[in-house]
Amino acid sequence: MEIVASVKDLQNLLSEKRNSGEEIGFVPTMGALHEGHTSLIDTSVRERKTTVVSIFVNPLQFSAEEDLDDYPLSSEKDKEICANHKVDLLFCPTQKEIYPEGSPELEEIGEIGKILEGKSRPSHFQGVATVVARLFEIVGDAHVYFGEKDFQQVMVVNDLVKRRRFPVEIVACPTIRQIDGLALSSRNVYLTEDQRADAPVLYRALNMGAELIADGEKSSENLKKLISDIVRNESKGDLDYVDVVDSETFAPVNLLSDSGKKIRILIACKFGSARLIDNIGVVIP
Ligand code: PAJ
Repeated sequence: MEIVASVKDLQNLLSEKRNSGEEIGFVPTMGALHEGHTSLIDTSVRERKTTVVSIFVNPLQFSAEEDLDDYPLSSEKDKEICANHKVDLLFCPTQKEIYPEGSPELEEIGEIGKILEGKSRPSHFQGVATVVARLFEIVGDAHVYFGEKDFQQVMVVNDLVKRRRFPVEIVACPTIRQIDGLALSSRNVYLTEDQRADAPVLYRALNMGAELIADGEKSSENLKKLISDIVRNESKGDLDYVDVVDSETFAPVNLLSDSGKKIRILIACKFGSARLIDNIGVVIP
């Protein structure tokens, strides 16, 4: 595995690979790698000849009140994990390398990025889109692997790719969970023992919601109420939102009556200082 910090070095290595006909798989991350990240890496390694992983904690996607200063860093361990998972190129750029102009102009985002996470975390998706666009410009033609754990992020990135016509193919990969259903997240390290015991309620409630739909429920309001009640009754979590959207357009869905339609139920909840998100896909029967 080669570790590079400069855009120039990365691009030189990538053109050598491309000249010998190798397809590039790319996994952008903010480090503190866990099995959610390594599932994306393993898929890329399986599907593409060359896999590039980037580790860059992007300040633009954190608001002033958020956890940028405390964001978990584990650079030596991350390098070891990447090497063990057969990453070919590890890109660990500095701020200056990614944003040579200092504060870049923020990327535009569509309506998809303005609801749910976008509403609770204003400017978050503009920050994500800005760094992702920069990384796509640097890496060029590639298959890029993202996790469905951050479902709205995948939708925002798909929209960005379409509008900016980046030569990339987005590959969405399933959410990796712990045995009790809690989605792996770098932010789980903030949970106390009691909060950790509470947190699986999110996936439990989402599954109860999916069952309600399978049993014929047609009202999103009833579905959201059921899920919210479970979270409130079975945990000390501070619920931010539960919502239902069309999986393809991300438009909110009120009536669950369109048989065969793919929808996503999304949830965000705070357990102490850790704000966790999760989601589940359902097909309306
Ligand atoms: P980060 O939170 O480090 O996540 C990197 C990638 O890992 C994202 O695509 C995310 O969805 C995926 N991931 C995280 N937890 C996962 C899980 N439990 N199962 C499957 N995939 C999981 O997301 C970001 O970084 C940043 O916003 C980034 C795209 C790198 C831009 O800065």
